[in-house]
Amino acid sequence: MNRKSQSTSTKLPFVFINVATTVDGKLAPANRHFVPFSSKLDQRLLLELRARADAVMAGARTVDLLPVNLGPGGPRYRRLRLKGGLAEYNLRVVVSGSGTLDPGAEIFRKRFSPIIVLVSGVATEQRLRRLRAVADAVEVFGDNEVDFVASLGWLRQKWKVKSLLCEGGGEVNGGLFRAGVVNEIYQTFCPLVFGGRDAPTMADGIGIESLSQATRLRLKSLRRFGNELFLNYRVVSAAHRFPNRFTALGCGKTACYLWRARYKRAG
Ligand SMILES: NC(=O)c1ccc[n+]([C@@H]2O[C@H](COP(=O)([O-])OP(=O)(O)OC[C@H]3O[C@@H](n4cnc5c(N)ncnc54)[C@H](OP(=O)(O)O)[C@@H]3O)[C@@H](O)[C@H]2O)c1
Repeated sequence: MNRKSQSTSTKLPFVFINVATTVDGKLAPANRHFVPFSSKLDQRLLLELRARADAVMAGARTVDLLPVNLGPGGPRYRRLRLKGGLAEYNLRVVVSGSGTLDPGAEIFRKRFSPIIVLVSGVATEQRLRRLRAVADAVEVFGDNEVDFVASLGWLRQKWKVKSLLCEGGGEVNGGLFRAGVVNEIYQTFCPLVFGGRDAPTMADGIGIESLSQATRLRLKSLRRFGNELFLNYRVVSAAHRFPNRFTALGCGKTACYLWRARYKRAG
């Protein structure tokens, strides 16, 4: 099996995360059933954020359990992409360390842009074969879990991904934070409480052991529309590997345009 690794000097894409959470920080109920609980405005934000990303990424369970295709949406959003200098259709990336991603998932029925599956050394040959039959590329990074530094470096080098939007779920987000590769977060707080110790949150997985390992954020903006709060955070210090990554890119021209336009409309 060809496992790729990457030097720490490799350039990575600008990574931003978008989530809608309940007030108690949950992404979904504990049974993980799909419940679209945010407003139409939040759904628009999702598409506007996709319109500034070369690639949109999600975890295997988000792609399995939800009827998502991770695509750019209608003509209006595709025009926004072109205006921002991006390809009309974004690349789609699914993380599935052990290759359990369902080859029959909705995403594989929409063939408008390449679908790349990132797996680890845990994935069996049989699962790799099944996924290779439906995806445009299935690449192995890391032994026990997907090595995000290596895989994102590869996405940048091979697929020219300069900006990558991750839409969860909690496990993938947690892995990205642990790898220290997240630059920005968009979080919509919805006026609900789900509870449930097993309900997914914005960042699950192993997490940190001491405060010094926490990802530190700066609040860039906070807006209220109706009963929802829209927050945008910049990561100011994450891990240790990329101390200088957090000053570049960010609120590029397109992003600022989208953000301003959105509030104008909403207001
Ligand atoms: N509210 C929102 O904004 C929002 C957004 C997205 C999702 N959701 C909800 O969140 C739930 C899904 O989240 P989730 O945390 O359960 O699942 P997830 O993160 O979508 O997917 C988990 C799977 O992704 C793979 N994976 C994730 N991180 C990995 C890593 N570092 N290395 C290797 N593989 C990795 C594994 O696949 P393998 O099993 O193949 O190893 C793992 O089982 C659903 O209920 C969905 O509705 C809500």
